[in-house]
Amino acid sequence: MECSSVSLADRIVLVTGASGFIGEHLCARLHNIGAEVHGISRSEQPSTNVLRWWQGNGASLEDMRRILTTVKPDVIFHLASYVSGDRSLKAVLPTLYSNLISTVNLLTLVAEMGCRRVVVAGSLEEPELGELPIACSPYAAAKWSASVYTRMFYQLYQVPVVGAQLFMVYGPAQKDLNKLIPYVTLSLLRGETPKLSSGKRQVDWIYVGDIVDGLMAAAQKVGIEGENFELGSSKLTPVSTVVYHLNQLIDPNIRPLFGALNDRPMEQVRTANIASAIARLGWHPQTSLEEGLAKTVNWYASQLGK
Ligand SMILES: NC(=O)c1ccc[n+]([C@@H]2O[C@H](COP(=O)([O-])OP(=O)(O)OC[C@H]3O[C@@H](n4cnc5c(N)ncnc54)[C@H](OP(=O)(O)O)[C@@H]3O)[C@@H](O)[C@H]2O)c1
Repeated sequence: MECSSVSLADRIVLVTGASGFIGEHLCARLHNIGAEVHGISRSEQPSTNVLRWWQGNGASLEDMRRILTTVKPDVIFHLASYVSGDRSLKAVLPTLYSNLISTVNLLTLVAEMGCRRVVVAGSLEEPELGELPIACSPYAAAKWSASVYTRMFYQLYQVPVVGAQLFMVYGPAQKDLNKLIPYVTLSLLRGETPKLSSGKRQVDWIYVGDIVDGLMAAAQKVGIEGENFELGSSKLTPVSTVVYHLNQLIDPNIRPLFGALNDRPMEQVRTANIASAIARLGWHPQTSLEEGLAKTVNWYASQLGK
């Protein structure tokens, strides 16, 4: 049954990872509904009328303690993460610190100090629960471990967590321009040929505006502590189809070079099970892939002055 909601208007809301792709969209929405928005970044950032910035590293318990004791948030969105599909050894420690240690630090402080709700972002890359979950990357291992800790903090210390497991998010203003959609979009807009892997990977793509809706519901719905919600379109679309749509939207004459790069080993192929997000959060993805890609292309084109 769909739960009732409490508004975040006038609430003190802290967003870790506020400078990131999803964080920026979420902070804008929080500001629009009248929340008092605070963001954490490792870099110094000038505060604006949208949010007040705090400088700190999530991997430092002392930084996080200083910020949490000063801000005293009602609600926290924990988005800070080293987001990377890199399989190499050099990705192990950054993902450990920025994903796992930062989550354990935050939840330890919330267990000590209290807070109404913590929404923790998980990932489609996490291995599915099975007899022996095997992570496909250091990022996946760290995110999965962070989810294990998140559930433990709820069970043992009654930290009011809600998990939001995000599938492949795309949309305007994605920070990492090496990710498929910004890379292909910008290449095509510049008249360059995108160099790609086989394009066969099947992915559950979800528009960033829908993700913000889901995160907001995860923070506002009453009585869902300890639950986890998968937020995706619940449809698989191969990379090659997404590239085809971008080609049609921008320049059908450019032929992307499939097979120029190797496929990554052990790619996750997963569809979001959105049944509980529909039932409990009243959440549905609203934006079709075609519509979301068109909005994304328009945004990047306007950035290039096209
Ligand atoms: N984008 C997707 O498709 C996707 C899919 C599944 C799950 N997710 C999850 O959604 C969340 C947001 O993703 P995103 O795409 O918005 O990522 P993003 O653009 O890479 O932003 C992540 C932000 O985390 C901050 N951060 C990293 N390490 C930190 C640390 N040690 N201490 C404090 N802040 C740190 C960075 O801010 P500063 O550099 O300013 O410190 C960065 O802006 C992540 O938890 C990610 O795992 C994303």
